[in-house]
Amino acid sequence: MSSRQPTSDLTSKFTSQCPDDLIHPATYIIKHSEQHKVVAFYGQLGAGKTTLIKVICKMLGTEDVLSSPTFSIVNEYRLTGGNPIFHLDFYRIKSQQEAFDLGYEQYLFSNYYCFIEWPEKISNLLPPDCMKVFIDVSGNQRTITIQQHE
Ligand SMILES: Nc1ncnc2c1ncn2[C@@H]1O[C@H](COP(=O)(O)OP(=O)(O)OP(=O)(O)O)[C@@H](O)[C@H]1O
Ligand SMILES: [Mg+2]
Repeated sequence: MSSRQPTSDLTSKFTSQCPDDLIHPATYIIKHSEQHKVVAFYGQLGAGKTTLIKVICKMLGTEDVLSSPTFSIVNEYRLTGGNPIFHLDFYRIKSQQEAFDLGYEQYLFSNYYCFIEWPEKISNLLPPDCMKVFIDVSGNQRTITIQQHE
């Protein structure tokens, strides 16, 4: 079972006991990211960032089988209509210079969906209007807090 508790106009919380529950936060994220398609996913190792991003991508209609982005920073998927979805994982970068080197702005300012794991590694480079998703794990339960920009 999953439940949503709106905490303010700009923040919503969902709980999840299993991956099937992620359809609820994923639906909310898709609904609220139409204008601002950069979404930053925060959470410890294994929190479930990739899992939630996969659910969102499937719901958006990507047909690609999503691989784990463990070894590459940039993953690009295609929506049925041909537009890209960028999935960036900054876990392995050692400095923001590496983000400059890979041309982060072509992904973050593309106006296409851009889902970011380990955004804290590039915190100064995030667009001010990006949506923030925090995943906290406690036992078998995940709490997913979604903050929209002001
Ligand atoms: N909502 C959920 N309910 C139950 N299990 C989950 C949920 N989300 C993820 N998991 C499980 O947790 C494990 C880690 O998930 P995932 O790889 O998505 O984490 P991550 O946050 O992307 O980790 P990393 O920081 O290493 O990239 C996987 O085995 C996944 O099946
Ligand atoms: Mg991951």
